[in-house]
Amino acid sequence: MSNSSQTIYESLGEEKIKTLVHHFYQHVTESPELRKLYPEDLAPAEERLFLFLIQVFGGPQTYMEKRGHPMLRKRHFQWPIDTQMRNTWLNCMIKAIDRVEMDNNIKEGIISYFVKAANHMVNQ
Ligand code: HEM
Repeated sequence: MSNSSQTIYESLGEEKIKTLVHHFYQHVTESPELRKLYPEDLAPAEERLFLFLIQVFGGPQTYMEKRGHPMLRKRHFQWPIDTQMRNTWLNCMIKAIDRVEMDNNIKEGIISYFVKAANHMVNQ
């Protein structure tokens, strides 16, 4: 996933991607029905999403080395994800995106990526 010349990973940098993921999980804690799907300790979950996103955005493949092929839809079968849960998840992510300074084209690109990916995760 990239824009015209630079990858999203290069444009944003690891620190902003880390901050984005941190904000996302803060918002997850504000939504009891979403929060209860996640493990008690969110730190390892934060690390997994961070490594996945740097890979998807064009950075190092560390996620793949640690976790294998993402197979995200399959990994998400263990949680009931209906359109309402998808919306709750997306709201957390969009709020997190709005807290990170970035160019509008990058913002549009990542929002449309997350909308597509979240739709793909609906399994109810
Ligand atoms: C649509 C609503 C979604 C729900 C309710 C949901 C829920 C969850 C939960 C409960 C976990 C376990 C946390 C952990 O221990 O790592 C998880 C893991 C994960 N989710 Fe989601 N998720 C959703 C959408 C997405 C989307 C859109 C993406 C990617 C863009 C994503 C990427 C991931 C990744 C990379 C992991 C870690 C997988 C692993 O390596 O085991 N999720 N998700």
